[in-house]
Amino acid sequence: MKFTPTSLLVTGGAGFIGSNFIHSFIANNPESSVTNLDCLTYAGNLKNLTALEGNPRYCFVKGDIGDAPLVAQLLADKKIDAVVHFAAESHVDRSITGPEIFVRTNVLGTQVLLEESRKHWQSGAVADFRYLQISTDEVYGSLGDTGYFTEETPLAANSPYSASKAGADLLVRAYHETFGMPTLNTRCSNNYGPYHFPEKLIPLLIHNIINKKPLPVYGDGLNVRDWLHVRDHAMAIETVLKKAAPGSVYNIGGNNEWKNIDIVNLVCDLLDQRLGRADGENRTLITFVKDRLGHDRRYAIDASRLQADLGWSPAYTFEQGIAETIDWYLANQEWVSEVTSGSYREYYNQQYGGGVA
Ligand code: NAD
Ligand code: DAU
Repeated sequence: MKFTPTSLLVTGGAGFIGSNFIHSFIANNPESSVTNLDCLTYAGNLKNLTALEGNPRYCFVKGDIGDAPLVAQLLADKKIDAVVHFAAESHVDRSITGPEIFVRTNVLGTQVLLEESRKHWQSGAVADFRYLQISTDEVYGSLGDTGYFTEETPLAANSPYSASKAGADLLVRAYHETFGMPTLNTRCSNNYGPYHFPEKLIPLLIHNIINKKPLPVYGDGLNVRDWLHVRDHAMAIETVLKKAAPGSVYNIGGNNEWKNIDIVNLVCDLLDQRLGRADGENRTLITFVKDRLGHDRRYAIDASRLQADLGWSPAYTFEQGIAETIDWYLANQEWVSEVTSGSYREYYNQQYGGGVA
């Protein structure tokens, strides 16, 4: 199956993974253009995309995926032949304290995008079309000490975040089964890399270590996550978009399981060296705190279908990826301080004129 996307609608492209994907897709596909639809929640940061300002193949539109007329207009005006849907509320902890926005954005927003995509695809405005839903391994729930999530693992989401992502995945499936819409669905493990919002574990650790602040480790620190560099995720998405059969689902993962406490220790030690601190100094910042409610114990992805069918495998080793990531944060302290101070919110107002609270 070969598909050559020419005009992409990327949603949530001002966030962590979406912005990394746009950079890599624009660089890899000189004949294609990208329209980035993002409403700029707290997680949306146009500073992630400054290198693309003025690029004729890139266009930013501030708007909500739940705004059906806007979505319909963009699909038609830009002759969109592929929707790559990243936009979401993405942080598990926030979904525990405020689940409503997760349902609104992740479930209802996805339904609007699917419905407008269906109408656009059925209108015949473009010769071929794909809708790619970016999802998460969290839809499968939690594993014990052994085993892996495959694409056949039943959905068993445990947090309001993962339940909202699972709901969206089922809607995507329904649009394929009911209307024959050419949908694709990927489910990826934990990403790390540049432009990661410092509420998530790895950038939070780096930021707190630099500033000698406590490193909160939830529960016993023995929960396991499977980490993948965000650029490997971006390449996997591009591969699925271009090569996968409509209706297919692919897991994406790094085959790279770590207990949280081991990641914390590793980041501490790498930063001891880089900050010229004594061996073990950063580890004294580790603080065990109350566990996350319903904290999933272990995620581990079997991504062999993606490798076997479409030939994707990660390019980064974790050793290289985590070292580069730490160096990126050290070299981009201005980006971090703008995010932590909130001043990145003013950037849109200066560049595009008003509107971001
Ligand atoms: P993020 O929180 O960094 O970015 C989300 C982006 O979506 C932001 O730019 C935000 O402004 C935008 N957005 C939110 N609501 C919107 C709306 N209603 N309309 C338009 N834009 C809206 O998220 P991320 O970590 O980059 O994750 C991107 C996607 O990948 C999500 O769907 C997430 O579920 C999925 N995912 C993330 C990971 C991970 O490790 N971060 C792993 C697997 C899957
Ligand atoms: O698995 C994919 C998912 O990975 C994505 O779908 C989510 O959008 C993304 O946020 C991420 O979810 P996690 O909950 O796994 O990521 P987070 O960085 O929040 O936490 C990673 C692990 O570290 C988790 O077991 C909780 C723990 N943790 C997290 C934070 C923020 C801590 O121990 N301390 C912390 O301060």
